[in-house]
Amino acid sequence: MARNVRAGLLATPKDLSPWPKYFYDAEGSRLFEEITRLPEYYQTRTEASIFRQRARQIVSRARWRELVELGSGSASKTRTLLDAMFEARAPGEEVRLRYVPLDVSESALKESGRRLIREYPELEIHGFVGDFERSLEPLLNAHTKADDGESSGGRLVVFLGGTIGNFTPERRQAFLDEIRAGLRPGDHLLVGVDLVKDARTLEAAYDDGAGVTERFNKNLLKVINERLGAGFDPDLFEHRAIYRTEKTRIEMWLRSRVEQEVYVAGADLSVRFEAGECMRTEISAKFTPESVRRMFAEANLQLLDLYTDERELFGLAFGARA
Ligand code: SAH
Ligand code: TRP
Repeated sequence: MARNVRAGLLATPKDLSPWPKYFYDAEGSRLFEEITRLPEYYQTRTEASIFRQRARQIVSRARWRELVELGSGSASKTRTLLDAMFEARAPGEEVRLRYVPLDVSESALKESGRRLIREYPELEIHGFVGDFERSLEPLLNAHTKADDGESSGGRLVVFLGGTIGNFTPERRQAFLDEIRAGLRPGDHLLVGVDLVKDARTLEAAYDDGAGVTERFNKNLLKVINERLGAGFDPDLFEHRAIYRTEKTRIEMWLRSRVEQEVYVAGADLSVRFEAGECMRTEISAKFTPESVRRMFAEANLQLLDLYTDERELFGLAFGARA
């Protein structure tokens, strides 16, 4: 983290967006959950509605034994999928379903795990705290035919919430390459993608009236203060969200209200901000059906379906190894 933050603060412009995982300490996860309930943040409720409409259809495409979820967070939408997977079993069929969530946020993972254990006594859960940019390969290769010894059945790997948009384009491609390498015959992939739309709707989703997203954005500074002994004063920064049409992505920034110098002990760095200077903290790419197809093709993945809502606000890209 010290190395990454140092590199980000020494870049021009200052740029912490390549490391979105630092947003998600316990408070960050809590604030994100609050974001998902905001009227402006259409993404979560739209993705949930696509699941409600399509879960049966999705689970009819293969007989998965295992659901792997990357960046699972509160796993709220996952339930619809689990319900459909349980429903799809033949009556009396003795098949254990396994859920394998991976998240960098231990608090989110534990809370959602506890709740799921209570709600689905039949479900076997293996939760992992970790970074999906580092532990994907072992994760996808570990839980194979595993403990039961039977033929494993396929796995469905899901990556929801538009989190794929938070990668830089290079990291996104590397991430999909890793997933593809871990997929076996019978395995499938389901990726939630936020779709291109008018700038006003998009900017409102990342700059809500109640100021929750502002608090979320500034929480990054608090995490850096705590973990690297830095002296950021969140009140000396303003939240900005802009949609860059040419890059089809939202960018989150923090703008320094004043000229200031901030010491980051753990990164052995003292960094100057001009009054009005902006630091990028997050990107969130938006897709079109065409760009989803391209992204999958570049990673040697076959796009089997792109499920969307009636207003085409959000999409669920379903695929497998090409
Ligand atoms: N899938 C949930 C949460 C999306 S928010 C939903 O759709 O609502 C992004 C989630 O990814 C958070 O829970 C965050 O903790 C997790 N995350 C972010 N970067 C990560 C990383 N590098 N490795 C693992 N999890 C990560
Ligand atoms: N995956 C979410 C998204 O891109 C993350 C997110 C939502 C976010 N709101 C944010 C990240 C505000 C930083 C700031 O939609």
